[in-house]
Amino acid sequence: MDEKVALVTGSYRGLGLETVRQLVHTGYHGIITARRTSAGKEAAAALSSEGLPVSYLDLDVTSEDSISAAYQTIARDHGKLDVLVNNAGIHYDLGNTSTEPDWKIVNEAMAINFLGAWKVAVGLLPLLKKSDNACIVNVSSGAGSLNDVTAGTPAYSCSKAALNMLTIQLAADLEASGIKVNAVCPGWVRTEMGGPQALRNVQQGASGIVWAAKLAADGPSGGFFRDGKTISW
Ligand SMILES: NC(=O)c1ccc[n+]([C@@H]2O[C@H](COP(=O)([O-])OP(=O)(O)OC[C@H]3O[C@@H](n4cnc5c(N)ncnc54)[C@H](OP(=O)(O)O)[C@@H]3O)[C@@H](O)[C@H]2O)c1
Repeated sequence: MDEKVALVTGSYRGLGLETVRQLVHTGYHGIITARRTSAGKEAAAALSSEGLPVSYLDLDVTSEDSISAAYQTIARDHGKLDVLVNNAGIHYDLGNTSTEPDWKIVNEAMAINFLGAWKVAVGLLPLLKKSDNACIVNVSSGAGSLNDVTAGTPAYSCSKAALNMLTIQLAADLEASGIKVNAVCPGWVRTEMGGPQALRNVQQGASGIVWAAKLAADGPSGGFFRDGKTISW
């Protein structure tokens, strides 16, 4: 029970994979998860081959059956979870408008970016409660800030604004349990979503996520951060 265990959703590539990499380099057992089994296993095998403590689990954040199966496996293999990073995300719908929505994109963005994070947090909560210092990190975006955004990326921005509200709700409801829940914007990062023009590499983007994953017991909860500093909701 002494080994710290961290699960990151959507982590076979991009910020998720780099978050696992940084966490396992500081002593965590990292659970790479994906809805694409072969890509996920390949990513886990690559880290394992470097001698790092990594395992792989199928996890589609929209599927309650998938979440429940992941729960059973972690309960059997580890008995607890210390870190949950809700990283899986989709549809930075640049060019769309709220007046002419693409409902397929809106529905998927809400199902994955918002409801998926909620379902995974609730589904894995009994394991997080077994940790003596658990952290949930919701990977959000400045594009979901009510203060900073005017127009653009309507599906994505609405889903991340909802994720921010979920962060506040979970943090309040879990305060007594000591589980910290924070939202983190990684900045604009060169990934499949961020594109090649983005200003940051994955190491820079993931470091703020890892900061929120490794907070001390008396660390903040219910906040919105970039690079460990509070940003505007
Ligand atoms: N890159 C940026 O500039 C930036 C800025 C702010 C916030 N973010 C946030 O950072 C997070 C990571 O994004 P990224 O930049 O690393 O993009 P990415 O490379 O596109 O990674 C997104 C990951 O989410 C996975 N995913 C999507 N739907 C899923 C589902 N239903 N179940 C499980 N996994 C699913 C994807 O897998 P599939 O191949 O299966 O779709 C992929 O592994 C996202 O939440 C994103 O919104 C990124």
